[in-house]
Amino acid sequence: MYQCRTVLARHAPGERGPGRFGPPVRVATATSKCRTGLAQFLVVTHSHVAGSIHADVASRAPGWLAVPPDVNALLPRLWSAGVSKDRDGVLTVAGLDVVEIAEQAGTPAYVVDEADLRARARAFAEAFAGWDVYYAAKSFLCTAVARWVAEEGLGIDVCTGGELAVVQRAGVDLRRVGLHGNNKSLAELRQGLLGGVGRIIVDSFDEIDRLGRLAAELGLRPRVMVRVTTGVEAHTHEYIATAHEDQKFGFSISGGAALAALLACHEDPALDLVGIHSHIGSQIFDAEGFEVAARRTLRLHADFAGRTGVEMGELDLGGGFGIAYTSADSPATPAALAVALQTIIDAECAALGVAVPHLSIEPGRAISGPSAFALYRVGTVKQVQLDGGASRLYVAVDGGMSDNIRTALYAAEYSATLASRRSDAPPVLARVVGKHCEGGDILVRDEFLPADICHDDLVAVPASGAYSRSMASNYNHVPRPPVVSVRDGRLSTLIRRETVADLLALDVG
Ligand SMILES: Cc1ncc(COP(=O)(O)O)c(C=O)c1O
Repeated sequence: MYQCRTVLARHAPGERGPGRFGPPVRVATATSKCRTGLAQFLVVTHSHVAGSIHADVASRAPGWLAVPPDVNALLPRLWSAGVSKDRDGVLTVAGLDVVEIAEQAGTPAYVVDEADLRARARAFAEAFAGWDVYYAAKSFLCTAVARWVAEEGLGIDVCTGGELAVVQRAGVDLRRVGLHGNNKSLAELRQGLLGGVGRIIVDSFDEIDRLGRLAAELGLRPRVMVRVTTGVEAHTHEYIATAHEDQKFGFSISGGAALAALLACHEDPALDLVGIHSHIGSQIFDAEGFEVAARRTLRLHADFAGRTGVEMGELDLGGGFGIAYTSADSPATPAALAVALQTIIDAECAALGVAVPHLSIEPGRAISGPSAFALYRVGTVKQVQLDGGASRLYVAVDGGMSDNIRTALYAAEYSATLASRRSDAPPVLARVVGKHCEGGDILVRDEFLPADICHDDLVAVPASGAYSRSMASNYNHVPRPPVVSVRDGRLSTLIRRETVADLLALDVG
């Protein structure tokens, strides 16, 4: 069904018969399914697979993207631990191959490696022993994942009533749940208070006032943290760097609002102020940003203690630990992160003469991201000629920006692999696009894929577990894909596929 094969031929540019020049050229000779691919172009435009083809495509590839020596090979750090390719080149996860998964679950689908996700959660819990680790539910949440991370020893941070409802349905102990959000409604605050969440992270003076009155009315005294803005601009894309001053989250330390917010909470008898919360951004690879943020938050912590005589007991450094989306990314291990952050905090507390508070972090994508890949089926393949004789292969799949908005939203980079078979065709510069009515409907901007990729092939995009399903939409009335998990060769559905009937059921006009 997925067969596209390549043969060796000796063709010179423009020649039809055996060539006289140079070594053999690998020419894709497609089966009938592959005739829309690059095959026909290869015969007439290139004389040396490692020469002109690579020269053309490499000139249009971003600097970080090298032509792969083997286009079938996987880069392990992009994939969950249970993923490999079998001898036929078929991608397999935890003992189940993607052809089987596609048959059972359909495409597109998000495929989670349960053991891998659990192992990543466990690795954080172990590396940060003595800290509290809260899984950031916004990265991906369903009841099964809420249960898995809780079973591995993590708390959960939620930022809406909807996320809280999922966690409640999962039966997670709400004392281990934190409620975030820059604009929580009264109903959400009430849901959190009545549910007994372990901490509420306040984000505005309005909210401090509202929460204090609601807590007093309910006769409760919630544990509260104050979200601060440290002024640190993490090394990441502007829209996901949340700690610089000109943004909606938190109270500014430098402007004095953070201290005023702490004092307001401290003075409200209905609120139990426990500490400071800082989150500096996402997809962060070095400790420098955390170091500056920790220094500033701890100075605030000491300043508050100096004014009130009270040393708050807790400090949360947020999430944002980077993962590998492409070969250009080399994330640190949780163990290395733990050592770096603990060293920074210990040194700073010693310098300020304050006790080290109870620490916590909130990793999201570092747990859910690499544990899942998105599986798509190729629909159409189009060769687009660029100026200067270069070309790009547009590979359109049956999903797109509705199931992964990150590329369109903030130019996120991804990788992809041909998942349903091995190919001997040469690598060509490709762009994996979706089926939406948008030129910007791009899933993977730049990747080398085999030249013979064609209709019906399966393509897998690694590191799709975080902020893909959780940010998915129904743009163009496309139903959202299911989330399935694989463990010991068995497939389970975590979130079923949405149907057009689901969408029509909402349309009651
Ligand atoms: C407050 C807070 N904590 C944790 C996270 C998780 O970030 P990441 O998934 O990059 O680890 C976020 C992400 O935006 C956040 O806003």
